[in-house]
Amino acid sequence: MSYQVTVEPTGDVIEVEEGQTILAAALRQGVWLPFACGHGTCGTCKVQVLEGFGDAGNASSFALMDVERDEGKVLACCCLPESDMTIEADIDVDPDFAGHPVQDYQAEVRALAMLSPTILGITLKLDRYMPFQAGQYINLQVPGVEGTRAFSIANPPSQGGTVELHVRKVEGGAATTWLHEQLKVGDTLDLSGPYGQFFVRKSDAQDVIFIAGGSGLSSPEAMILDLIEEGDARQIYLFQGARNVAELYHRERFEALAAAHEQFHYIPPALNAALPEDNWQGFHGFVHEAVADYFSRRCSGHKAYLCGPPPMIDAAVSTLMQSRLFERDIHMERFLTAA
Ligand code: FES
Repeated sequence: MSYQVTVEPTGDVIEVEEGQTILAAALRQGVWLPFACGHGTCGTCKVQVLEGFGDAGNASSFALMDVERDEGKVLACCCLPESDMTIEADIDVDPDFAGHPVQDYQAEVRALAMLSPTILGITLKLDRYMPFQAGQYINLQVPGVEGTRAFSIANPPSQGGTVELHVRKVEGGAATTWLHEQLKVGDTLDLSGPYGQFFVRKSDAQDVIFIAGGSGLSSPEAMILDLIEEGDARQIYLFQGARNVAELYHRERFEALAAAHEQFHYIPPALNAALPEDNWQGFHGFVHEAVADYFSRRCSGHKAYLCGPPPMIDAAVSTLMQSRLFERDIHMERFLTAA
């Protein structure tokens, strides 16, 4: 049993299986609808029902207020159609968005390695090639843990049969603890993807600043490798923030990349707690301070891509805006660490 949902104003028609949400069906059929959390708490996926009806599902009362329900609004990530429907969505698709459909994959664990004292690198071999844009993420099902966890893909799309993840162990977090302590090479995991709107806008040719904190390095790493592989001529700056030198994982990889490609600039010394034994000669401080220092508070003419924990993002956005970037020049992935 399935229902047809027509999406206005584009006129796209999607088939929604019984028990499937409008958003899940749309993403799997390559139809873009705005969304963020994917589980009824942020309200980003709110749409107006023009015809038909559906079960509102698990929409929280913050994300969908009673008055909005009365007006015929639903959350696409929660709504289960109970008839054919027509919905109206505020669709503003970025021209650089490729819109690769979300699909389910099985993955075999090919390699596990501690990249830093807290971050585990997981290399997964997918059962088939997954088209994606560098910077996007997957939702991983962790055995014994309810729901899925989002992890950014750290490798470029040219290696689309592989997914490399950087997983920080979160204290008390069931999923990341299981991955760190139980996962073995040869295990199989289920995942779906690709998701997300975090990718380099290639239609503009402005130089790019990447600012990464903690395991938020994963998507910038994929984006940088992708740009370099494609022979992109723009200047690329990577600021990698970490608490101490041991957490600056993949430092040698980026130093080698910078030595081989003169348009790539690697600035790692954004340490806020360098240990005396590190004998660190570089910049001491937060990553946003390193950006301001490097560009002498003039970042105009660049596009910035930020990925990391919310406090780092907030500080970096405010520094960039004080350094003459506009909101439209800044793209970000708030890395709500998967627990
Ligand atoms: Fe957040 Fe639907 S995407 S409420």
